[in-house]
Amino acid sequence: MELHIACIPGDGIGPEIVREAKKVLDKVASKYGHTIVYQDILMGGASIDVHGVPLTDEAIAAAKAADAVLMGSIGGDTNTSPWYQLPPDKRPEAGLLKIRKELNLFANLRPAYLYEELAAACPLKEEISKAGFDMLIMRELTGGLYFGERNTVTQNGVRKAYDTLTYNENEIRRIAIKGFEVARKRKHKVTSVDKANVLDSSRLWRAVVNEVAKDYPDVELEHMLVDNCAMQLVKDPAQFDVILTENMFGDILSDEASMVTGSIGMLSSASLNDTRFGLYEPSHGSAPDIAGKDIANPIATVLSAAMMLRYSFDLDREADDIENAVRRVLKDGFRTADIMSDGCVKVGCQQMGDLLTERVSAEGV
Ligand code: IPM
Ligand code: MG
Repeated sequence: MELHIACIPGDGIGPEIVREAKKVLDKVASKYGHTIVYQDILMGGASIDVHGVPLTDEAIAAAKAADAVLMGSIGGDTNTSPWYQLPPDKRPEAGLLKIRKELNLFANLRPAYLYEELAAACPLKEEISKAGFDMLIMRELTGGLYFGERNTVTQNGVRKAYDTLTYNENEIRRIAIKGFEVARKRKHKVTSVDKANVLDSSRLWRAVVNEVAKDYPDVELEHMLVDNCAMQLVKDPAQFDVILTENMFGDILSDEASMVTGSIGMLSSASLNDTRFGLYEPSHGSAPDIAGKDIANPIATVLSAAMMLRYSFDLDREADDIENAVRRVLKDGFRTADIMSDGCVKVGCQQMGDLLTERVSAEGV
């Protein structure tokens, strides 16, 4: 099979982690006789430095022409980087929001899984973590506060800023369907998270999710308020299967969910539209403080590449190989700094990529 992948290395640790993910992908491709054609695209600060904007129309066209997009991370230090002296719509994050919107990537899947081997890195008490957990956050990605009308104005000499949280029923319905569909392939449970005790948008969210649920009688549905969910994630994460939620809540809860897995450096993500096309990126940011030091954890990006093979190319066996290689590397005691624990061997980003690559090619993985 020939796979056309647009690559966005991005900023900070992005180029390092994407390099390792490509190494692993190339190994899988040669093992199974696939050809991968990559095209690099500039986005975020890297694009600002060259083109003055975080994402050009040519870059969007190149992404659209590919079968899938593999991304590292974008953005810099918001306190010190000159990119943040620019108006908000010219900053690195604007590129990411634009590509999500332009490609209609409304469904963001963020799985959070506690590897047995990483139990020591899990910040929860052992009596909680011993139950393990395996959840997936289905985050709406092209609506809500991120894309609502916003402005900063001065009224009678007083500065005022507002952002608006809007959803229509169609936007809610399509993400709810994705949530129920994925629950069917997992543990048949959806926890829909909202703030229906305060927000109108949440009350509509709840009503539409209830309507969609009628088509999925085999899937258990519960509703949970977002503040309670934040608490439940550290109190009893084992209760969750699919967490279905809107854009901003999903942004916050997915960072929390990733931390209880031991490190945000482990969490992959897929952003999908209604076709097989997807953009795959780690859930973490560009970590400018550790960029270029060869200490970043490439596993979230490698696991995102595995999601790409599974969702955009239907290559389940190849994706399994990558996921098994991650398990094997952890079992063999290798750790990057963020997941390091006593008795393990600390490795850098490149070496982690090499170790994963070796395990992908090993027989019987
Ligand atoms: C994420 C990130 C982005 C978001 C930022 C970089 C705009 O935090 O993918 O979770 O808020 O969606
Ligand atoms: Mg985030």
